[in-house]
Amino acid sequence: MAWLWEPARWALVAFVPLAAIALWDFFQHDHTLRRNYPLVARIRWLMEDLRPFAQAYIVESDLEGRPFSHQARALVYARAKGDLDSHPMGTEYDVYSDEYEWLSHSIAPKAEAPEYWRLTVGESTCAKPYTTAMLNISAMSFGSLSAKAIEALNAGAALGDFAHNTGEGSISKYHRSHGGDLIWELGSGYFGARKQDGNFDPEQFRDRSADDQVKMIELKLSQGAKPGHGGVLPAAKVTPEIAEARGVPAGVTVTSPAAHPAFSTPIEMLEFVAKLRELSGGKPVGIKLCVGQPHELFAMGKAMLETGLHPDFITVDGAEGGTGAAPLELSNSVGMPLREGQIMVRNMLVGLNLRSKVKIAASGKIHSGAQMAKAFALGADWCNAARPFMFALGCVQSMNCHKGTCPTGVATQEAWRQRGLVVEDKAPRVARFQKQTLHSLREIVIAMGLSSPWEITPQDMRERLNGARSDAIDRIYTFLEPGELLEDPDSTAYARHWHAARADSFRRAQ
Ligand SMILES: Cc1cc2nc3c(=O)[nH]c(=O)nc-3n(C[C@H](O)[C@H](O)[C@H](O)COP(=O)(O)O)c2cc1C
Ligand code: SF4
Repeated sequence: MAWLWEPARWALVAFVPLAAIALWDFFQHDHTLRRNYPLVARIRWLMEDLRPFAQAYIVESDLEGRPFSHQARALVYARAKGDLDSHPMGTEYDVYSDEYEWLSHSIAPKAEAPEYWRLTVGESTCAKPYTTAMLNISAMSFGSLSAKAIEALNAGAALGDFAHNTGEGSISKYHRSHGGDLIWELGSGYFGARKQDGNFDPEQFRDRSADDQVKMIELKLSQGAKPGHGGVLPAAKVTPEIAEARGVPAGVTVTSPAAHPAFSTPIEMLEFVAKLRELSGGKPVGIKLCVGQPHELFAMGKAMLETGLHPDFITVDGAEGGTGAAPLELSNSVGMPLREGQIMVRNMLVGLNLRSKVKIAASGKIHSGAQMAKAFALGADWCNAARPFMFALGCVQSMNCHKGTCPTGVATQEAWRQRGLVVEDKAPRVARFQKQTLHSLREIVIAMGLSSPWEITPQDMRERLNGARSDAIDRIYTFLEPGELLEDPDSTAYARHWHAARADSFRRAQ
């Protein structure tokens, strides 16, 4: 019988803790399920935790998976790693479903095209214009992303000669260590250029923006995933490093208000843009927004006409855009999707003959050459991507960014979780993903018989309306002719918003 002792001892070792947990569950008051089904009910939470993985690895087909499908992620991973990115056997889309849309190729494709294109921003307004790449890293702050992620993104940007937007958390030491071009984003918290009371500090802004690594400034009005929402960074998350970057005390809760303290009318906003340009020594200044109430956009247009002031670029972010954390209702139900927002911004500028002065950048699930080409068709001058660059860093879309428990070290501040993200390995992936995506854009431009992506027009893109009909985008959406809003606003689809817009207020005119 002595041989039975050993297994019995091990059984006891396993049983005692489980019995203790079961007893704890039975007597605790917080969870009904655990009280009624001690121990067993815990499987539910385990399954909840494993759900994103089970869904991604077992349940989803290639075209499923949200926010990004398995196919979209696989494409980014392949391009980032330099693996084979071609696809066998033809499209998996149902080309007769109303989700399908396509770009029209030419019978006479171009024989050749430049290897890549670049575009100068702020040529007529700035002492230091910037020549931007066609695909840049969209705003993501140090704080929502880890130090290693910021380093790898910036090193990738330096390798690939494109720009890295700081996000509203300002410029940290991790943004500086590899020297990649920066777009400094200023949100309503003015982090990095902020007085103690939360107002904008011109002196700090002048000093920091003078850094040669800072190539452009982006004034953030809103982002698609949480438009009109301020931010709160709880005291526990304000580490000394984050505090240093943002210019706030460590260990104290910081808030960024929903509205900018520095301006409250369209004219004041443009004056602030002009002030930033001047303080920065003549660097291009743009605004970033997700379109909300259309009259506010036309109010900006009226203010541009009245003052002669204008931003150098407008970044249009779609409601489909990402975030580290946001209230679900704001992500799901507030803000205009990229396509409509981009067309409206384009129409405001074209209709007021301002298009040549103000460039347009687009962001919102742009992860491939085809998505870029479609954004160009709707009037974009360049594109930004956030989550696709996270995929290039190794993000597996486990949807834990808001919990700080990111398994890939991309969106966490815990050092041990960042161990797996090796900057020297990921930086070339970031650069490769950007380069291969631009290569794909180039192939599309050539197939369309064009010389540059700016030649793609709404006529070149078709959308399926139902199983039997499709039409060109310019016959589905409104595209204004140059000056149309100036000459005869009442004949346009925007008459109502135009008349409601005032240069001296974002409020709707009565
Ligand atoms: C983790 C994370 C953090 C972000 N932080 C910011 C931010 O600080 N400022 C901002 O304007 N947008 C922020 N965004 C939004 C992105 O810049 C971008 O506009 C949006 O995600 C759409 O691009 P995507 O679809 O390529 O991700 C963030 C997005 C993510 C995923
Ligand atoms: S892997 Fe990290 S960054 Fe990607 S979704 Fe999950 S938690 Fe967020």
